[in-house]
Amino acid sequence: MQKILVAGSTGYLGSYVVDHLKRRQMDFKAIARNTEKLEKLGLVPDQIIKAQVTDSTTLVGCCDGIEVVISTIGITRQKDGLTYMDVDYQANRNLLDEAIKSGVQKFIYVSVLHGESLTHLQICQAKERFVQDLKTSGLDYCIIRPSGFFSDIREFYEMAKSGRVYLFGDGQIKVNPIHGADLAWRCVEAIFQSEKVIEVGGKEILSHKAIAKIAFEVANKKPKITYIPDWIRKILLRLAALFMSKTQYGPTEFFLNVMAMDMATNQFGSHTIRAFFTQLKAQESR
Ligand SMILES: NC(=O)c1ccc[n+]([C@@H]2O[C@H](COP(=O)([O-])OP(=O)(O)OC[C@H]3O[C@@H](n4cnc5c(N)ncnc54)[C@H](OP(=O)(O)O)[C@@H]3O)[C@@H](O)[C@H]2O)c1
Repeated sequence: MQKILVAGSTGYLGSYVVDHLKRRQMDFKAIARNTEKLEKLGLVPDQIIKAQVTDSTTLVGCCDGIEVVISTIGITRQKDGLTYMDVDYQANRNLLDEAIKSGVQKFIYVSVLHGESLTHLQICQAKERFVQDLKTSGLDYCIIRPSGFFSDIREFYEMAKSGRVYLFGDGQIKVNPIHGADLAWRCVEAIFQSEKVIEVGGKEILSHKAIAKIAFEVANKKPKITYIPDWIRKILLRLAALFMSKTQYGPTEFFLNVMAMDMATNQFGSHTIRAFFTQLKAQESR
């Protein structure tokens, strides 16, 4: 049984990776700056490494005895004032340096679908710089390229609940978002497979309009959709670039670009969007 180190374990995807490894009784450790979050996931002290991935001095020895690293480290909603280069690139680079020093065999890294052709976006520039470092590191590796996450399509349900969903273009752009549990499963499977790149999305390929329709049905609201023309999206992008700080602009830049892109890819997993929205609704009444 291989010894695995999970970085990013306190996040949406990372916590599902930890849960998956626990359920399969695999031998693993998790690294976090906030170890209380890991205790809440049921990890025992032996499985926990406290470190700040952006500070390489705290990582010394973290990969000793480790055979596989799975990293889901990246900025999504964190407001630490750090850039994607600080976290998505440099923090993963710090971890990779430790992995090389300790003789880790394989490094599994979560980037983003089509990231290699989106390097004009801040987030993808940082992620793909790390991908290049990983490819030339001498370690066996796997780059996971997921489509959107279920944690992000929650917004469709929230808008439907409030009575109106706003979509870019004509709402026909397709995506197959993936549930954290399904993606965690795919990440762990990558340990045993030889693929260097895995593009993966959830089981359902749907248009934004179809996702909105499901959200209205679950929220039990009459469907009302406002379609935002593409020229407005482009103006929003320009304004954001002019008036937002670099750290605020990055997530907005990514969002406004991917909302206009087809993000459908290989289908995987069992979770449905309807079940996810239904679960959100059930949580409201608790
Ligand atoms: N959301 C999407 O639709 C999507 C799609 C494709 C790819 N991805 C990528 O998939 C990866 C995982 O996403 P996710 O939704 O699981 O992200 P998440 O919930 O925000 O988790 C990110 C992890 O990175 C850590 N992290 C972030 N900034 C840090 C910092 N300054 N110092 C130390 N640790 C830091 C977080 O630690 P703390 O808990 O301590 O903050 C957390 O463990 C990300 O790289 C994301 O870009 C996301």
